[in-house]
This record gives sequence, C-alpha cells and structure tokens, in this order.
Amino acid sequence: MSVRALSFGAVAEAYERFRPGYPEEIFDLVAAYAGRPIRTALEIGAGTGKATRLFSGRGVEVTATEPDEAMLAELRKHVPAGVRTLRATFEDLPLTERYGLVYAAAALHWTRPEGRWTRMAALLEPGGVVASFGGPIRLADPAVERAVQAARAPYLDTDEIPSPDGTPPEQEMQWPGTELERSELFTDVRQVVAGRRWTMSAAGYVGMLSTVSAYLELAPADREQVYTQILRALPATVEIFADITAHLARRTRP
Ligand SMILES: C[S@@+](CC[C@H](N)C(=O)[O-])C[C@H]1O[C@@H](n2cnc3c(N)ncnc32)[C@H](O)[C@@H]1O
Repeated sequence: MSVRALSFGAVAEAYERFRPGYPEEIFDLVAAYAGRPIRTALEIGAGTGKATRLFSGRGVEVTATEPDEAMLAELRKHVPAGVRTLRATFEDLPLTERYGLVYAAAALHWTRPEGRWTRMAALLEPGGVVASFGGPIRLADPAVERAVQAARAPYLDTDEIPSPDGTPPEQEMQWPGTELERSELFTDVRQVVAGRRWTMSAAGYVGMLSTVSAYLELAPADREQVYTQILRALPATVEIFADITAHLARRTRP
C-alpha cells in the first residue's frame, strides 16, 4: 500500500468527527439498481464505518473490511454489534465468500489496479452488484476557493486525487465506471450523481481538510502552517458542494 493510502489511521478520530456521513439516498439508489433484496455486503476500505452504518442500518448483513487498525478501532465504536469486521486490504481479502453487494466509499482508488475487477467479480454472487461512491468536497464560492488556493500554494498545488485511469474531468463517464465498462466481468454500468450542499464553519472545514491525505503527507510543521493560512483566508462560514458520484455495475453471469 502507498504511504498516502496508509495516512488515515493517524487521524481516525478526526476523520470520524469532521468527515460527513452518507445520505440514505445512496442506499436507495444502490437498492433500486440491485432490483432484488441485498442480504449480504462486503465493504472495502470501510474507514470509521460511515457507509457501514448506512448499509447495516437498512438491514444488510455487512462485513466491513479495512487495513488500518486505528480506523478499524474507531469503526468498532460506531457500528452495530452485528457488523463483522476484518482487518485487510482489498488485495489481501480471502476469496472464500461471495456477497450480493461489494461496495467502497471513497476507498476504491486506493486499491491496486492489477486484478482489481477479477478479484471484485470473485467476491460477488452471480448477478451481484458492485458500487463505488464518493466525491470531492469543494468550496462553492469561487472567490473563497481562489483565496484558499493561494493560501495552500506554498505547500500544495492541489489537495484532490487525480483520476486513477487518467479520465479527463470533462468526460461523461468517470472512473471507475470507465474501467467497469472495459471489463467483460461486469455489465449494465451506471453513473449517478446525488447532489449535496451545505454550510459549515471555517473551523469545521479545516478540520475536514485535516483528514485529507494530501495534507497528511506534509511535514507536521508545514501542515500546521497550511491549516493556519487557510483558516485566515476563510470567512466564518463556508458553503460546500459535496456531490456524491456513484458507479454501479452487475457481475455478468458465468
Ligand atoms: C478516504 S478513506 C474512506 C473511509 C470510509 N470508506 C469513508 O467513506 O468514510 C479511505 C480508506 O481506504 C483505506 N485503504 C487504503 N488502501 C486500501 C486498500 N488497498 N484496500 C482497502 N482499503 C484501503 C484507508 O485505510 C482508509 O480507511
């Protein structure tokens, strides 16, 4: 695993506190796409369990997997007792069970591309569904965004993660839908966007940035500096665009 992929555990409590959870709408669109009851699900890179709670709360028997011990410890504090947990990367998951759904929230891009879809297909029942969802959290006001960019520039060019397969942002189908469309193991690939907007305090926004891998990779002194500079550049409250893009596909029947 890359150093960046491993960076979250150090901030597991902050992650739980500052990152937003996932709306019921995400479960509803996965369930509608599945078109049959989802009984079992495997979650990849479950983190502190924000998406685990969504699916287990809707009656799905979830196995939450996560490689980072600190994230997993935080997850165990917040998920219902019935949720099974396993410390493992996606690449190391045993292929001994099959699930009706395999899903990843803001995590699939951390997995290795080699063999990704063969492994995913091996974890799914025939006709089972794969779902990957997430998206950047962006400042809605372009003037505030420019001020933050300027404050960040001495430390970081960008805090966003580039498309894993280089899909340009203007292309309609985004990653991982692009990879799923190229795979013969999956069919009926869909991309759905759930809009999210809200207002948060400047301190909450910087708290959220403190869980973003690009900042976590900085030297501690630079990290503190960049948070201070960004906080100075922000008004007391900020408007946020945090649309969630979901990719859905069905395992082809062998
Ligand atoms: C941005 S966090 C998302 C956590 C959670 N799914 C959520 O949405 O709040 C990414 C998670 O992926 C995990 N991760 C990194 N590399 C991974 C891999 N190869 N396989 C599975 N999970 C991985 C990290 O430890 C981290 O908890």
